Amino acid sequence: MAVLPILIAPHPTLKAKAKPVKDVTDELRALLDDMLETMYDAPGIGLAANQIGSLHRVLVMDCGSRDDEETPRPIKIINPEITGVSEELSSYEEGCLSIPEQFADVERPAVVRVKYLDENGQKQERLFDGLEATCVQHEIDHLDGVLFVDHLSNLKRNMLMKKLKKYLKDREEDAADVG
Ligand code: NI
Repeated sequence: MAVLPILIAPHPTLKAKAKPVKDVTDELRALLDDMLETMYDAPGIGLAANQIGSLHRVLVMDCGSRDDEETPRPIKIINPEITGVSEELSSYEEGCLSIPEQFADVERPAVVRVKYLDENGQKQERLFDGLEATCVQHEIDHLDGVLFVDHLSNLKRNMLMKKLKKYLKDREEDAADVG
C-alpha cells in the first residue's frame, strides 16, 4: 500500500468526470487500498479517485475513523449511483482534502440510497444517513467533477477560493523559510 499525493484545487482532474469501472480487478483493489491509506494518512473521512489523479469511478470512506473508540469502518465503493434521496435536508460544515483548511455549510438530502459494486464486484445497495450521507454525496460529487464549493453562491465560492490561494501561498513561504 502507498500514500498518494492529493491534488489541490484548482486542478483540471478535479473538474473531470470519472468513468465507470468495467471490471473489478486486483489492480483496482490495490488502488482502493492505496486510496484508503492516503485518506487515513491525511487524515480525512472520504476520498474520491479524482483527488489522487485517477478517473476510475471509485471512492473510499470511513466516517468512524475520527473516533478512536470505534473500530475502523472502511467502505470501498465502485460505480456509485444515487437511487433515492430524502425530502428532509441536513446542513453540515464541509471541508475537502483538495481544498485544505477551508470550510462552509452545505445543505444536502439527509438520507440517500446508493447502488454500487463492492471490491468483490458484488452489487450492493444501502442507505446512508447522518455524516455518512453527507460524506458519500460529497465523494460522488467529486466523481462528477463537482466540489463542495460549487454548492455555494458565487460570492461565497470566490471568497473561499481566494482564502485558499492565500493559505497555499503562506504555506509555501513557510516551507521556503524552513528550507
Ligand atoms: Ni472532497
